[in-house]
Amino acid sequence: MSRLIRAVIDTAALRANFDRIRTLAAGRRVIAVVKANAYGHGDATVARALAAADAFGVARLDEGVALREAGVTRPIVLLEGIVTREQLAEAAAHRLELVVHEPGQLALLEAWRGAHRFALWLKLDTGMHRLGFPAAEAAAARDRLAALAVPAAQLRLMTHFARADERDSPETARQIASFEAAAAPLGLETSLANSAGLFGWPVAGGDWVRPGLALYGVSPFVGESAASLGLAPVMTLTTTVIATRAVARGECVGYGGLWRAARDSRIAVLAAGYADGLLRGLENGTPVVIRGQRAPLVGRVSMDMIVADVTDLPPVEVGMPAELWGGALPVAEIAAHGGTLAYELLCAVSPRVERITT
Ligand SMILES: Cc1ncc(COP(=O)(O)O)c(C=O)c1O
Repeated sequence: MSRLIRAVIDTAALRANFDRIRTLAAGRRVIAVVKANAYGHGDATVARALAAADAFGVARLDEGVALREAGVTRPIVLLEGIVTREQLAEAAAHRLELVVHEPGQLALLEAWRGAHRFALWLKLDTGMHRLGFPAAEAAAARDRLAALAVPAAQLRLMTHFARADERDSPETARQIASFEAAAAPLGLETSLANSAGLFGWPVAGGDWVRPGLALYGVSPFVGESAASLGLAPVMTLTTTVIATRAVARGECVGYGGLWRAARDSRIAVLAAGYADGLLRGLENGTPVVIRGQRAPLVGRVSMDMIVADVTDLPPVEVGMPAELWGGALPVAEIAAHGGTLAYELLCAVSPRVERITT
């Protein structure tokens, strides 16, 4: 039975975005970042559609195992690495590559007695100050990893940008310089750029890039459209009108009476709420598209419903579709109405939403 709310995943757009990224990567290999269920798009679906990727990036062990169980055979990198010996053994069993970012992980690898030889990514902290070894410790950490009989080609170096989405921040150039200084004497393959690094900082270089958001057709730069970067939206989130009614001037709608009709109005009730992943904090005036026209949300987002003021639209009837974001409404624009970024909206799309792949 088809559900009232659906996320349609356009794999042709996904592949076109990947091709755009390939071109921009100019020979660098591409790790397609599919963590967090491919930013809400369905990780197995995305990995299957992007079979041309050189590798996939996930955050956690369970995400990597799920991809293997879904039949993905390409290299998979655990961007947070592992935390325990048991996790290390499971990562070995599933041939997962590990990011090594703190001394405890080095010690676990040194104690590893299994036959599997891990492919490893030594992570350097060049300014994010979250994960990674200080650049000054890079050579010592590399020596310890090299002593584990990791084939040289399977030992690589990476870092992560903190502010690459700010085109005028000097921080990214500083991070690149600090990474290059640490990496040069080590002679390993490197990876620096996320989506913003790839589109905004061609000087970032390296041998591998790690785009996530851009794959899904979203611009990493606030105020710059995806289309201007040559990207097309992959997810269209559509729901259904479940009721319409007249609201007299002066009457309130929804919890807390947040919106009061300033004129006699017609409203449409839509099957979408925070249980589907919408932000409760979406403000009044956030657009939805019904019958090809924008209508503003009115009242609070509740668990299962939102309400749109359709007074200025042609007649709206029960059963009609309403787009919440996608081709007609950039998800980044909706995110701005909730004081957040597209990342959060996409990742929040809940299991109650039917995923349809085209
Ligand atoms: C280490 C790492 N690399 C790459 C990415 C992809 O970033 P983006 O989605 O901004 O391209 C992420 C995502 O947060 C990450 O944590």
